[in-house]
Amino acid sequence: MKITYLGHSCFTIETNDVSIIIDPFYDENKFSPKPSHVLVTHAHLDHIGHSLSLCQKHNALFISTFEVANHIENQGAPNVHHMHIGGFVDFEKFKIKFTPALHSSSDGVNNIGVAAGIILNIEDKNIYHAGDTGLFGDMALIAKRHPLDIAMLPIGGNFTMDIDDAVYAVAELLKPKIAVPMHYNTFPPIMANPQKFSEGLKNTYTKPIIFNIGESKDF
Ligand code: NI
Ligand code: MN
Repeated sequence: MKITYLGHSCFTIETNDVSIIIDPFYDENKFSPKPSHVLVTHAHLDHIGHSLSLCQKHNALFISTFEVANHIENQGAPNVHHMHIGGFVDFEKFKIKFTPALHSSSDGVNNIGVAAGIILNIEDKNIYHAGDTGLFGDMALIAKRHPLDIAMLPIGGNFTMDIDDAVYAVAELLKPKIAVPMHYNTFPPIMANPQKFSEGLKNTYTKPIIFNIGESKDF
């Protein structure tokens, strides 16, 4: 599979069969993804992003927790799957499970459901996209239930884990094969140096991989 980082918390995950985008907040002047599936962790604008236009343009299936899915459906998304934190749902070419995240979900004023993380099981790999979250102990439970190949984690602080907490999450709780930092350097309050995240993971089981914005890697 090919994973591409479009900046902030947005990744595309492409196989021969599907083109998934997670938290589609990206620069429309630089990128024009054509997803078959749009996965969203919570309703904050920097995550729900361009979901509506992507779903309308490409007839993509929008997948999120119940109220977030309702929210986008009410705005006119043609193809929506409502689910929630709980078990895996099988979408034939991949499976998704939503996990807890320690964060909120709103349009900025009114609450829209809850914040979540995502475990994506695809081509026999478990990818954990943590969404926006602070550190919580049940990350260990998530990894115990689903040994992780790749973990995508916020490191920017202020709204989410900072580098120290993200390093702790990786080294002590999640222990993925690969850790990818996200949610940093987009806005002034979340400035962070991802190299420090990498340095923090020296001598651990996990290999840190820092994507440049627009960069793709094969896994
Ligand atoms: Ni958020
Ligand atoms: Mn955010």
